[in-house]
Amino acid sequence: MANQKLIFTNSPAEAIDRYINEINPPQIFVLTDSNTSRLVYPRIAEKSRHLKKACEITIGAGDVNKSLESLASIWSALGNNGGTRRSLMINAGGGVITDIGGFAAATFKRGIRFINVPTTLLSAVDAAVGGKTGINFNGLKNEIGVFREADAVIISTCYYDTLPQTELRSGYAEMLKHGLISDRATFEELLQFDIAEANAEPLLALLEKNVMVKKRIVEEDPLEHGLRRALNLGHTPAHAFESWAMAKGKPVPHGYAVAWGLVVDLILSHMSLGFPSGDLHKVATFVERNYGPIGITCNDYPQLLEYMRHDKKNASVNEITFSLLEAPGKVKLGHTATPDEISVALDIFRDLMHI
Ligand code: GLY
Repeated sequence: MANQKLIFTNSPAEAIDRYINEINPPQIFVLTDSNTSRLVYPRIAEKSRHLKKACEITIGAGDVNKSLESLASIWSALGNNGGTRRSLMINAGGGVITDIGGFAAATFKRGIRFINVPTTLLSAVDAAVGGKTGINFNGLKNEIGVFREADAVIISTCYYDTLPQTELRSGYAEMLKHGLISDRATFEELLQFDIAEANAEPLLALLEKNVMVKKRIVEEDPLEHGLRRALNLGHTPAHAFESWAMAKGKPVPHGYAVAWGLVVDLILSHMSLGFPSGDLHKVATFVERNYGPIGITCNDYPQLLEYMRHDKKNASVNEITFSLLEAPGKVKLGHTATPDEISVALDIFRDLMHI
């Protein structure tokens, strides 16, 4: 698991061709969704010598397509188009594509080589790196899957001009999470960066430093037995906010929920572990400015707590588990909080976010 090659470049076609020259696969498959197939993949393929002869497999866009049916269609396409144990699969898209494509490659003929070409900031900073692959099943997210790292991940910011601002901000929340887990300098640099004005080269440099935070953690704990749980910072409240918003019929982007969840977790960190209030205020101000508020009231707390109780990171439904911080860079894993403590944290959250 430790040998995943990360390549940061704004010439992705050249990097792909170099990689293909090295391993010389007899067949090349490229997995896209209906958006990347139209907007991004042609831009990569026209500059690549090898991709001209690749077989493209396209599935529908969006999380509903991270399904057993789509997976079966990918396996069939691999089998019907001459896929062998020596084939190469290239997953070009967001997190849905790298998750399902990684799983399809890990299982087809007991496993073929694959590389990820994440085309969104969110997938570059999170899903494409670290070997989590899988599909949703039985109404549950990521219920079936395996840990299997892509042989290489080719990360470029040059196609982010196809992304809406909300999508960029969504990815940036995961970068902020890595900064908080890493150290004060990294986290403060992220607070200074203006995501609305971001252009390809400075963002690529910032992204490279940031993705290396995740890479180092995954190398130490690939199967999430301990340290990797630090990457769940902000995610217990985030998943509750996402489920709450979905139930109201107004879904919110994952990264927005992560940004709000980070503020809640830093409040809990301040209450239980003395996380510095100056840092908490800086993050809350940044989150309010870039992500706006989420319209919760105290009447929503029972529902939010219920969602948190059923989070799959908990050891039991009576204990709600959080990854918290004593300070930027100082992670405390497996901290539990009571419903009363969480309600106080949500009150403070609403104050800080002026809700
Ligand atoms: N998304 C967190 C992880 O990869 O562990």
